[in-house]
Amino acid sequence: MTFDFTHVPERRGTDSQKWQKYAGRDILPLWVADMDFLSPPAIVAALQQRVAHGIYGYARPVASTVDAFVQAMEHRYGWRIDPAWVVWLPGLVVGLNLTALAFAAPGEEILTLTPVYPPFMSAPKNSGRISTQVLLRLDPAGRWEIDWPALERAVTPRTKLFFLCNPHNPVARVWRRDELLRLGEFCLRHDLVLCSDEIHCDLILDALPHVPTALLGEDIARRTITLMAPSKTYNVPGLGTSMAIIPDSTLRARFVRAGAGVMAEVNAFGYTACEAAYRDCEPWRQELLQVLRGNRDLILDFVAREMPGVTIEAPIEATYLAWLNVSALKLADPVAHFEQHGVGLSDGAFFGVPRGSHVRLNFGCPRATLLEALQRMKRALPARVL
Ligand SMILES: Cc1ncc(COP(=O)(O)O)c(C=O)c1O
Repeated sequence: MTFDFTHVPERRGTDSQKWQKYAGRDILPLWVADMDFLSPPAIVAALQQRVAHGIYGYARPVASTVDAFVQAMEHRYGWRIDPAWVVWLPGLVVGLNLTALAFAAPGEEILTLTPVYPPFMSAPKNSGRISTQVLLRLDPAGRWEIDWPALERAVTPRTKLFFLCNPHNPVARVWRRDELLRLGEFCLRHDLVLCSDEIHCDLILDALPHVPTALLGEDIARRTITLMAPSKTYNVPGLGTSMAIIPDSTLRARFVRAGAGVMAEVNAFGYTACEAAYRDCEPWRQELLQVLRGNRDLILDFVAREMPGVTIEAPIEATYLAWLNVSALKLADPVAHFEQHGVGLSDGAFFGVPRGSHVRLNFGCPRATLLEALQRMKRALPARVL
């Protein structure tokens, strides 16, 4: 290993949202999706240089920043992005909210597949739109699947937009080309705008390709808004820099108009980090993926052998998030229970499943932290399941 994924500077007492939640308590925070790893040295160096410049005026991306992103997408996924398609955003959740505002009217419906990252369900509600949710289905082979008949039943004349998460947080599923094509055709047939959140696409752990939704065909690309960011992969979410890629100029104009006067500027440090991430950090990303694969395998093994009553129902193909079924533990509030035993997880209820059924565990942390957390969880298992 060239890079250090073992030692982490102390985050207690810093501005870390993840660690502040449990300030003063011995709870390992494995909830919100940022990683307890240092950002790549190339990002740190670029930021240090930017700080040393000493002037922090309103920023616009320079050509080399856009170029670094565009080149990375072409190289990794064969997607040729015209720089004119890119709208910079101070966060991807901003993109979800703007998309809801721009492409559905109050009272109209936005479809999504649950369990899902909570803003997929709250963004519509924030502006008086309606969130319609279709549960993913576990197929007999143990894979999360789209319930196509349920999806068809959920569409009404008021449905205008589809929120897709690819790869899917929290079930860690990489959608395959045939599934995406079917989804694209579904959106065409029902005249839906397709918003594809691909923030986790650079974190695929298995030998599976990421298929950008906008590459599925001209007609699908014309109705697609893709949301991306360096934040998850390079551990820079606090720098708030994300992109909407919108090939169709009419859609793009509607999106930009929805944010007029309310959308904040992206800050100068975010652009700097973004350029360094996409241009200089591929060796770091490859090592990160190795570390995450090891952590993923550790969890799968540990849960299967040491945690009766807890199951991981499907492969973890991407992300650093594990979706644990804890329903057999019969706990009214599993998050509170595991907190009492020193581990902070995310409540499945926020992702659209009943409280008590699932929790999400963030394994983007040093192996030793993860092992300690799993051992604490093992000790927390109620006596009745042991
Ligand atoms: C699917 C997905 N979209 C968006 C975000 C957050 O993006 P941002 O911090 O840029 O708003 C997350 C964070 O976990 C996520 O998992």
